[in-house]
Amino acid sequence: LELSRAIFIRNANQLVTLQGSSHAPRVMGEMSELGIIENGSIWIEDGVIQAVGTDEELAAKYEARLSEAEVVDASGKLVTPGLIDPHTHLVFAGSRENEFNMRLQGSTYMEIMNAGGGIHATTRRTQAATHEELFHESFERLNQFLRHGVTTVEAKSGYGMEWETELKQLEVAKQLNEKHVVDIVPTFMGAHAIPKEYKDQPDEFVRLLIEEMIPKVAELGLAEFNDVFCEHGVFTPEQSRKILETGKRHGLLAKIHADEIEPYEGAELAAEVGAVSADHLLKASEKGMKAMAEKGVVAVLLPGTAYFLMAESANGRKMVDLGVPVALSTDCNPGSSPTVSLPFIMNLGCLKMGMTPAEVITATTINAAHAISRGGEIGSLEVGKKGDVTIFNVENYMKLQYSYGVNHTDTVVKNGQVVVR
Ligand code: NIG
Ligand code: FE
Repeated sequence: LELSRAIFIRNANQLVTLQGSSHAPRVMGEMSELGIIENGSIWIEDGVIQAVGTDEELAAKYEARLSEAEVVDASGKLVTPGLIDPHTHLVFAGSRENEFNMRLQGSTYMEIMNAGGGIHATTRRTQAATHEELFHESFERLNQFLRHGVTTVEAKSGYGMEWETELKQLEVAKQLNEKHVVDIVPTFMGAHAIPKEYKDQPDEFVRLLIEEMIPKVAELGLAEFNDVFCEHGVFTPEQSRKILETGKRHGLLAKIHADEIEPYEGAELAAEVGAVSADHLLKASEKGMKAMAEKGVVAVLLPGTAYFLMAESANGRKMVDLGVPVALSTDCNPGSSPTVSLPFIMNLGCLKMGMTPAEVITATTINAAHAISRGGEIGSLEVGKKGDVTIFNVENYMKLQYSYGVNHTDTVVKNGQVVVR
């Protein structure tokens, strides 16, 4: 057994702490208060942050133990909490560049899906893949997330559409959580599309979800969240409500893919059922946004998906101004957002949604933690939180968004261990 050495990250040009929001996500002006310490340092031991302050303060505090620690010099660099991606479809097989090409020639995402491609195409590939194949493909994706500074990702099932494959995806997610340093938060998304066999009797599939699959997932402890694609032509708001309420009765917290392609009162529904987050929201109504603000439902915005589907992004600026807690995510999936680059999503958050560089940092750290009910453990650099830290090779947080399409990740510390250098 290797005893873990203390880690001393020293003298960051900017140390973004985001201290003081473990109990609730940040809203409005709070999203711009990053709690920056200049010449900042962190002492991590036993995987947990022990002290955060200026380098002078920490060097004095740990004077007698300096030689024990592994020192990481962050001079001239930006240090943030490990980035958090609160919405991914991490576990899938194959890719869909053929559909990308079709869309470039005028087909729409929904047309392709209704013709048996889209989510159905990835479902066939995922059904055909073995557990090992799915594990290796997803493990490599997690490596790429980590190299982009991400230390926790939410991961949804939903490319099964029948029990065996949904189970396989969730078991792969569980194994990834055990074998890979990146932490995985699992979500059951059996309600991702209506399988072809149920096209003429969608309520029969909803019955299968609520009477069989959701109770089994909960009993096996394979997911923390339950998600549904509430969209015209997929699951109606009534069906979505039933699916989310059933999950809640079985202890699964609610998430919802809402108002992505057409307005469908998904944001309103999220507030009514007390969802932890509502995601996408390109077509959300103002009434829905206000309801989310009132209930503290986190908006997980996915500007990479809007970019890739050539659609107008959600109105992040308006949501922040209305008091909705906003988080950002890649939506990593093979159809609508084949990327692991959360830093690129941050750039889109600024340029396509009118958010400021400070707000997008909050949206990918503490607010992203709250979007997956982890605000007490991760998302900020403060004593008692997990030792998850990303060091970027830029001098300040604005430059991270400004200098886009480049991976600035320099060093990643996960659970107090250097895992990328
Ligand atoms: O979040 N909108 C629905 N589901 C995914 C896309 C899944 C796919 O196309 O494979 C999303 O965009
Ligand atoms: Fe999604």
